[in-house]
Amino acid sequence: MSIAIPQLPKGTRDFYPEAERIQNYIFDTWRKTAESFAYEEYEGPMFEHLELYTGKSGEEIVSQLYNFVDKGDRAIALRPEMTPTLARLVIQKARELKKPFKWFSMPRLFRYEKAQKGRLREFFQLNMDIIGTESIYAEADLMAAIATMLRKFGLKDGEFAIGVSSRKLLATYLEEIGAPNPSLVYPVLDRRLKIGPEAFAKALTDAGLTEDQIAKLDAFMSCKSIEEVQASVHSEAATAALAEIQDLFATLQAAGFGECVNLDLSIVRGLAYYTGIVFEVFDKGKSMRAIAGGGRYDSLTEKLGGDRIPGVGFGMGDVVLADLLREHNLLPSPKQSVDFYIASFTNDMKKVFETAQLFRAGSAAENDANHTVSHPLAPMKMGKQLEQANYQGAKIVIYVDGDKAKDGEFEFKDLRDGTMHVGNVEAIVAKL
Ligand code: HAM
Repeated sequence: MSIAIPQLPKGTRDFYPEAERIQNYIFDTWRKTAESFAYEEYEGPMFEHLELYTGKSGEEIVSQLYNFVDKGDRAIALRPEMTPTLARLVIQKARELKKPFKWFSMPRLFRYEKAQKGRLREFFQLNMDIIGTESIYAEADLMAAIATMLRKFGLKDGEFAIGVSSRKLLATYLEEIGAPNPSLVYPVLDRRLKIGPEAFAKALTDAGLTEDQIAKLDAFMSCKSIEEVQASVHSEAATAALAEIQDLFATLQAAGFGECVNLDLSIVRGLAYYTGIVFEVFDKGKSMRAIAGGGRYDSLTEKLGGDRIPGVGFGMGDVVLADLLREHNLLPSPKQSVDFYIASFTNDMKKVFETAQLFRAGSAAENDANHTVSHPLAPMKMGKQLEQANYQGAKIVIYVDGDKAKDGEFEFKDLRDGTMHVGNVEAIVAKL
C-alpha cells in the first residue's frame, strides 16, 4: 500500500535553516529597534474565544478567521491580529498598568484568505502599540520607530513612505457633506483604489450617497497637501484634526524623518476600531501591498466591555517586508557561518570534544564569549573534515594534533585567506 506524501498546507511556509536565518535577521532587527525606543515585549495565546473578534474588528478580518469548536464546545479562533488580544490584556490589568506604556510583540498570525503574493494564511507581524495617551506624539514615536527600523534594514528615505490620514478628518468631512452611515462608507473608501472608479461610485450609491457627495469625496481623498484639504473643510473639528497632522509632520521633520511621511487621504484602513490617525507604509511607487498599517483606536477597550483607554499602534508583516528587502538585495546571506572548526589528523575524538569546549568558552580576555564551534561527528580523513568546515562556513580550522604546536598551542588555518599559523587560544580568538 502506498501512502500519499504529506503536503504543506496552502498559504503556509516551511523554514529550513537558510530561511530561518533570514527570518531571525528580521526578528532581531524588529526587536532591537523596538527596544531602542523603549518598548517592552509581551505575548498572548495563539487562539482566543471567537467572540473577541466578531463584531469588533470589522467584517474583513472576521470573514478571514480560522475558527473551530473545541472539545468543551467553546467557539475558538486562531488569532488573525494582535490588537484585540492586547486590548484584553489591557482591560484585565487596567488599574495596575502605569500609563502611558509602550509594548511590542511579534506574533504568528492566521488568516483564512486567498494566498497570493504578499498574503499568506500564516505569517508573523511586528506589533508596536502605545496605550494610555491621546497625544499625537505617540503617533510620532511609532512613525519614528518605523522609519528607523526600515533604515536599519538598509532602505533609504524615498524608497518607502508612511502615508498618513485621519478617520476623524474623514468623519467630519462626511458629516459636512451630509453623507449617511459612515460605518458603511469606510469599507468602500478603503477599497477605492483597488476597485476602480466605477465600482467605487456604485458601492457608494448602494451605501446611500448622492452623485454630488461621491464626487466631493473622491476629490477630497485625492488631496495631496494640507493646504489643499484646508480649502475644502470648514468645521472646527476638521480644522483641529488637520492641525494635529501638521504638528505630527513638523515633529517628525525636526527629528530627521521629514522625507519619510506624507499626507495620503486615500488611506482609510479596513478595520472598524480606528478612531483617529490611520497610516500605512508602502514601498516607493506602491508597487507592493502595504508593508505595515496601523492607527489610533481610542474606544476599543470600551467596546470590549472595559473602561475607555486610548491606544495607537501598527502591525508590520514579515512577508511584504522580506519581498521588498529581497528586491533591494538587502537580505543577509542565508548560508551558515561558524567561527571555529576543530579538526584532527588522528581522529582523536576525545581531544576534539575537549578542544571544542575550550573554544566555546573563549579566551580569558572575553567574559562573555559566544563562539560557534563545530567538528566532525565521526572519524574521517582530513580532506573530508576541511570540506565540512568549508561547507559550514568556518572562519578558522583548529588542528588538535598538528606537530608544529607546542603545549598550550594549536596549529590553525585561516580559511578566509588560506594562511597557516600556530598560537594559543588567546591569539587564535583574536584572529576572528
Ligand atoms: P493589518 O493592516 O490587517 O493591521 O495588517 C498589518 C500588516 O500585516 C499589513 O500591512 C501586512 O504587511 C501584514 N499582513 C496582513 N495580513 C497579512 C497576510 N495575510 N499575509 C502576510 N502579511 C499580512 C492589523 O493587523 C492591525 N491589528 C495593526 C495594528 C496594531 N493596529 C493597531 N495596532
